[in-house]
Order: sequence, then structure tokens, then C-alpha cells
Amino acid sequence: MKISGNIEQNNKKVYLETYGCQMNMADSEIVLGLLEENGFSLTENMTEADLILINTCSVREHAEQRTYGRLGEFKTIKKEKPEVIVGVLGCMAERLREKLTTEKAKGVGHGINMIVGPDEYRKLPGLITKAWHGERGIAIQLSRVETYDDVTPLRTDGISAWTSVMRGCDKFCSFCVVPFTRGRERSRDRTMRIRFVTSHPKDMSDKLIETIAKHKNICKYIHLPIQSGSDRILKLMNRNYDSRHYLQLIEKIRSLIPDASISTDIISGFPTETEDDHKRTLEVMEKVQFDGSFMFKYSPRENTQAFKMTDDVPEEIKSRRINAIISLQKKISLVMNSNLIGKKLEVLVEGESKKSSSEWQGRTDGNKIVIFPKGDFLEGDYIEVEINRVNSATLFGIVRPQNIMEGVL
Ligand code: 5AD
Repeated sequence: MKISGNIEQNNKKVYLETYGCQMNMADSEIVLGLLEENGFSLTENMTEADLILINTCSVREHAEQRTYGRLGEFKTIKKEKPEVIVGVLGCMAERLREKLTTEKAKGVGHGINMIVGPDEYRKLPGLITKAWHGERGIAIQLSRVETYDDVTPLRTDGISAWTSVMRGCDKFCSFCVVPFTRGRERSRDRTMRIRFVTSHPKDMSDKLIETIAKHKNICKYIHLPIQSGSDRILKLMNRNYDSRHYLQLIEKIRSLIPDASISTDIISGFPTETEDDHKRTLEVMEKVQFDGSFMFKYSPRENTQAFKMTDDVPEEIKSRRINAIISLQKKISLVMNSNLIGKKLEVLVEGESKKSSSEWQGRTDGNKIVIFPKGDFLEGDYIEVEINRVNSATLFGIVRPQNIMEGVL
């Protein structure tokens, strides 16, 4: 679900502090994702913020005490800048709603404009607007289904990112408050498509192939760069395999995953490449029947081993060879795509077609673009498309209304 932008919230700055566990870190990234979509930008300077949020932890007494301390400080800021909105998110929002809104003794109660529990973050943009109009917002309903799996988190943690597989807890350990603050267990839909993008042939283990074969939600698409069909060139490239080994890998893939879509990378015109080496590349392409290839003319790159060799294949020969490789691949892709005519393929809807506003495009499990007429479905839906026409780059088809699969594989 997309939450549309709110003009009032454009150019506003949000400051967010996160306490507690990794779930809270992940939730903060979700909250920031939702807010960014609504025109907020993140600030690390509390004093320039229009909105101050604290994502809280209730797991031990000490964590709550720290939050009280911070709320006291936010209150000081509010004295100078009364229009600032302060929101308490997370587990303390669930546990201490009453206390947080009424407890004047601790001097925090009046400083808080919003209290939002872990399953209610989608309401934040609405609650913020209300808060700007002077209303105190409270949303603390727990959910049995919310996973935020469609929300794009705003990643702020450099090289680390959090993805929660499940939320909530049903274990009810006798000492633990989590089942009460985070609600019942629920898991992200695992039917979500995962596409493993690339592998050096050396890393294409039996286990990896078996894993791709076994799980329906792992796309049956394998990108396995071969670079050249000539063993002499592969050696010069320091690729650590020969064409025989590569073909054995392909055989293994085809036997375990018969409908796998396989693509590759090819470099044409590597130093010393002869006409015979080039023919080996064409031969291997014929043997494998790649669904698609990324094809490049060799270009020398400083600091590489090959840079020390003479770039001795003349430009016009490189061009002729790459053109031969491209036209062979087009021919093969057309054959591979033609084999799909009449088939019903599961397609993940991506959005409007790049070439026509009356059509949509999506992607098959095998990473092929499919064009189909607009219909009663949305970006992110899985639909079944019956393929009725192809070219070497694209599939075309029709969707029958009963074939909209509502996000299920
Ligand atoms: N010249 C041409 N193609 C190259 N690639 C990498 N380096 C070069 C180069 N110097 C290609 C390879 C690789 C892909 C990402 O880019 O095919 O698999």
C-alpha cells in the first residue's frame, strides 16, 4: 500500500532516537521510510527538528527509565519551540499509554503529542497532521497480520540493514513483557520472490542448485558468466574453469531445474583471441542455448593482469565478432522465448509498459519482461499471463480475470 504525500508535511524534519532490540532498529527504518514518502527528511540535530520521535523499549525497567529521561529533555526543547511534535513509538507506547499521557508527576505527560504502538506506524502521517492541529494522537492496536512487508525502509545504518522475518511473540516466557507489547507471532509472506543474481561458475555449488530447485519462491533464473568458450582464453582470463566444466554445470542445472532460465556474460576480443577462439565461444553458445547474454567488447582496464598484454585484436575484428555473438544470441533468445508461446506464466506486475501507456509490464520467474493489457491489478500483484507472442527480448500475453493471484505464488 502506498501512502500518498501530504503537502503539510513537505520539507519537515524528523529526528528519531531508537532504543532496545534489533526489531526496533528495523521498525525505525520502516517509520523513516513511511515518513520520507510523506515529505519528511531526516535530521540528526534534535533542535532543528519539527518532529521528535523516540522508539522505545520496555523489556527491562532500566530501558523505560532512560526514555523518561529523554522525554524530559524533549520537553525542554518544546519550551523553546512549542510547535515541535513529540511522539512515543514502540513497546512503551503499548505498555504505558495511560501513564505516558497522564503522569504529570514525572513532568513528561504534557510534552507528548502522539503515542503509537509497533503495529500502527502506517497511521503516523495522519496522526502527525492531527497533532499539528492540536489533537493528541493515540494508536496502539496490535495486529495479527501487520508485517510492513510492502514498506521500503529508509536505511541509515551504513553497511547494515535490518529485515524482520517475523514480528511478535507467542512464547509467553514468565518474565517477559514482549508478547504484551508486540502482540502475536506473524511471519512475513515467504512466498516473496527472491532472485539470486550472479555467480562465478566456481561458486555454483550443488547445494546452491538444489536450493534453487527446491524452493518455489527462489526464481529459477541463473546468471552464470562464461566470458569465453575457448579454454586457452579462459586460462588467460584466470577464470579457473574450462568449457567442459562449465557445460557440466549447465547439465546439472538443467537436470535439477528443467525449466531454468540461464543467462551469461561474454567478452569478445580478449588479447590474443583468434578466429578459432571466437568460434569456440559461438559453439558453447549453441550448446548451452542461453536465454540471454550480456555481451561486451574487451576493453583494457588499468591495474589488471590483462592490461599488461597488448590489446591486439583490432577494433573492426572485435566489432565483427561481437556482432556475430549478438546476432547468434538474438536467434537463440527467439527460440527460447518461442518455446513459451501458449504457456501460462506467473508474472510479477511491475507497472506501466515503457513503450505504451495502455499496457503494463511484469517479469517472469525466469527474469523475462512480459507485456500485457492493463487490467484490474496493481504493481506487486502476481498474475498469470498466457503468452501469445514473443520477440527475442520480450514476451507478450493476455491475463484472464480469474488469474489474478493476490500476491500468492
Ligand atoms: N572488458 C569487457 N568486459 C568486461 N567485463 C568486465 N571487465 C571487462 C573488460 N575489461 C564484463 C564481464 C563481467 C561483466 C560484469 O562485465 O563480462 O562478467
